Amino acid sequence: MKQILLVNGSPNRDGNTASALRIMEDVFLAQGLTTAWCQIGRQPVRGCQGCGHCAKNHRCVFPDDVCNDLIAALLQSDAVVIGTPVYFAGPNGALCALLDRVFYATANFGQMLQGKPAAAVATCWRAGATPSIDRINKYFTFAQMPVVSSTYWNGYLGPQDAFGRNVLETLAHNMTKLLGKE
Ligand SMILES: Cc1cc2nc3c(=O)[nH]c(=O)nc-3n(C[C@H](O)[C@H](O)[C@H](O)COP(=O)(O)O)c2cc1C
Repeated sequence: MKQILLVNGSPNRDGNTASALRIMEDVFLAQGLTTAWCQIGRQPVRGCQGCGHCAKNHRCVFPDDVCNDLIAALLQSDAVVIGTPVYFAGPNGALCALLDRVFYATANFGQMLQGKPAAAVATCWRAGATPSIDRINKYFTFAQMPVVSSTYWNGYLGPQDAFGRNVLETLAHNMTKLLGKE
């Protein structure tokens, strides 16, 4: 059974970003796919130090945060959705620090994620969703991952945002189709 990895890049396990990912999860589960979650949470996340250790085994030299678990989960999954809260019109800094290491290890040194469909979702109070999505899409396009799209850019303002919900549901259906399930 095909598995979608849902990455919550917010420190809040049950905030707006989790809510956006759960909207998509409902579609995936209804279509017979399985999901796995990665929560960045509130533990410290290191930045990349450019040491090149990951060229050898595609794992980060620092074992003390979520990085290597996320690499393993990505390799095991057939597709990924990365969600972020918007912080000053960009993705959460901790998420970028983490993704620098994940994609350096798996895409710069090897093309281990090639062909896995991917999508970025950003939640915000008012503005900054599209530059945040663009930033995360840079990781996907570097890694030869097909970027899945919807009827609008994948911003979500919270549970009151019916339009955003519809965009995310369509995004999930489009990802499902790319996996050959619809
Ligand atoms: C440090 C910080 C910066 C933020 N910057 C923005 C911003 O630039 N634009 C915006 O609309 N909301 C901004 N917000 C609000 C969050 O993006 C918004 O509340 C988001 O939905 C939180 O997601 P979460 O509940 O998953 O943590 C900011 C919040 C924080 C904590």
